[in-house]
Amino acid sequence: MGGEAKHLKSGIVSAEDPESIRIAGRIIKTGGLVAFPTETVYGLGCDAMNADAAAKVFESKQRPQFDPLIVHIVDTKQLDDVIGSLPVLGQRLMDAFWPGPLTLVLPKQPAIPDLVTAGLSTVAVRMPNHSVAQALIREAGTPIAGPSANPFGYVSPTTAQHVADGLGSNVDLILDGGPCQVGVESTIVSLAGSQPELLRPGSITIEQLSAVIGSIRRSSPVNEKPIAPGQLSRHYATRTQLTILASIGARPILKDGERACLLSQSQARDPDDRFIAVEVLSSTGDLRETARGLFAALRRLDSLGLDRIYAEPCKEEGLGVAIMDRLRRCAAP
Ligand code: TXA
Ligand code: MG
Repeated sequence: MGGEAKHLKSGIVSAEDPESIRIAGRIIKTGGLVAFPTETVYGLGCDAMNADAAAKVFESKQRPQFDPLIVHIVDTKQLDDVIGSLPVLGQRLMDAFWPGPLTLVLPKQPAIPDLVTAGLSTVAVRMPNHSVAQALIREAGTPIAGPSANPFGYVSPTTAQHVADGLGSNVDLILDGGPCQVGVESTIVSLAGSQPELLRPGSITIEQLSAVIGSIRRSSPVNEKPIAPGQLSRHYATRTQLTILASIGARPILKDGERACLLSQSQARDPDDRFIAVEVLSSTGDLRETARGLFAALRRLDSLGLDRIYAEPCKEEGLGVAIMDRLRRCAAP
């Protein structure tokens, strides 16, 4: 990569340049790591068939090896390399939502390294709806395994700069495809048990899923026994302690000298509230806009190094379920 590296500025290259995709594909094929945009958040990708490359992903993120990766594919032909069998409900969900922000947990193919699936007999697979992710997988000629491209436990990245801020030189290349349009991670549904189970809420809502496959069990949000460590209660967390307010507009009583900021759902607030900074997620209360900007706003507030972030809750309906899920995990002690 020597000759190519000089073109890179802090490891970020524009994904619009076809040359970038070529280089990125070659890095994946030769066992390296490429951060890439998807419609949800940026992923940290490697060849899903290469255990050594997967080991680098865990190392780069400081991710515990009990936390399995999602395998990204570009077409249904690649499914045969990844999953062992496809139940009829799986087919229906793929027809309805792929390519898109839905991850399915299914029985795995033996060829997928155990490290990728953390030794489970199942694998998480999704087909992203983003032209850069698709071009990269096609160019690499292999399914790409990858978690969100952030240090383990921190807020997921929704821009190339977020990736560089968190992982920097631990990545061979960062493909910049602009800010992610969805902004929260994919919905995860397991079809490996006797009944479909929602493991992580995302932008494909429970209502949308139920319309296609009927009833779906919601896994309990706490970590009795996390099968998906995305289920760990504290995850996606800022370094600054975050507290969720009781309602929109609720005024926290700040401790003497407490330096606090506010993540507001829709309104800039009265200066009397004494917040040092306020981020407004969507002035019209549009949940898509809220989700799209959520992680970037959290990162900006976190970078201020204040004592506390107060966050207004949103209605827990539709996309609001995923937004509140991420805020709660961020707030968990
Ligand atoms: O939107 C997304 O899903 C993004 C983009 C990059 O695709 N990826 C993402 O990956 O959020 P990550 O690693 O941050 O979250 C993947 C989640 C983890 O909570 C992991 O435990 C769960 O998927 N997972 C992976 N394989 C699993 C399996 N076989 N069974 C249950 N959960 C699994
Ligand atoms: Mg993650």
